[in-house]
Amino acid sequence: MSSDAPNQAQIDYWNAGAGETWAALNDRLDRQLAPLGDAAMEALALQPGDRVLDVGCGCGHSSLALARAVGGTGQVTGIDVSRPMLDVARRRVPEGMESQLEFLEADAQSYSFETEAFDALYSRFGVMFFADPAAAFRNLTSGLALRGRLSFVCWRSLAENAWMAVPRNAGLQHLPPAASGDPSAPGPFAFADARRIEAILVQGGYTNISISPFDTDIVLGRDLDEAVGMALKVGPLGAMLRETPQQLGTVSRVVREALTPYVRRDGVLLPAATWIVTANRASAWEPG
Ligand SMILES: C[S@@+](CC[C@H](N)C(=O)[O-])C[C@H]1O[C@@H](n2cnc3c(N)ncnc32)[C@H](O)[C@@H]1O
Repeated sequence: MSSDAPNQAQIDYWNAGAGETWAALNDRLDRQLAPLGDAAMEALALQPGDRVLDVGCGCGHSSLALARAVGGTGQVTGIDVSRPMLDVARRRVPEGMESQLEFLEADAQSYSFETEAFDALYSRFGVMFFADPAAAFRNLTSGLALRGRLSFVCWRSLAENAWMAVPRNAGLQHLPPAASGDPSAPGPFAFADARRIEAILVQGGYTNISISPFDTDIVLGRDLDEAVGMALKVGPLGAMLRETPQQLGTVSRVVREALTPYVRRDGVLLPAATWIVTANRASAWEPG
């Protein structure tokens, strides 16, 4: 991908430490995220034979679940910019499913999709990283069939997502102050504001938009050691520690303390807050 790509900063991010971390922890992250992704998948009401695009598919767990849902007559394409995560995804394609499930290394905001190649668009936390989200959704719409539909799950605010906020706030005592940047900048919380999502989707060519809260507890780890290990590697704290690795020991101690009250019999559980978003391609929409 060329260095003047619109999403170059995110492409670099997901090909360096973040992508490698997600690739290494993909099974554990999938266990955490699957219940949230499943809620968005259910809302898509897939039919056997559907052709689906999985946007920001990462290590391909959701793509495989989609492929199972649409069966042998269906087709699933996962698109992502992260080579280390796509390497994991490609290795996970079961024998006999190679023609039904494919992965594409490309920027979903600018890739030239074949017209009406998909009946449905799906994403599990993969649509919040576009530099120009309205342009990205317009581009995705160009690949969607006339009666096509979309469903995705995205995070609400950091404050509502204790599973990320608790370790991050504990770690901040020993890290440089976090920049208070533009809340809509590309990143996990860029779609926290439901009104912004609606505006982006209207500009992107969608109608019949539904944005519903979906809350659940996330199992950060099966025990405290695993939960601390995860908290130090993923989410906002993981990103900060990749920049300041010398603080790992001190931060690890305060994060352990902060997570201790959340230990339950079945693991370390903290609240997660998401939006499940569904919409249909607007019949009047024309590629611009
Ligand atoms: C939070 S991860 C989610 C991965 C996966 N969907 C999952 O749930 O495990 C976000 C994903 O979006 C991908 N991504 C970010 N910007 C993208 C873009 N412009 N086009 C395609 N994928 C993108 C990243 O590489 C990363 O794999």
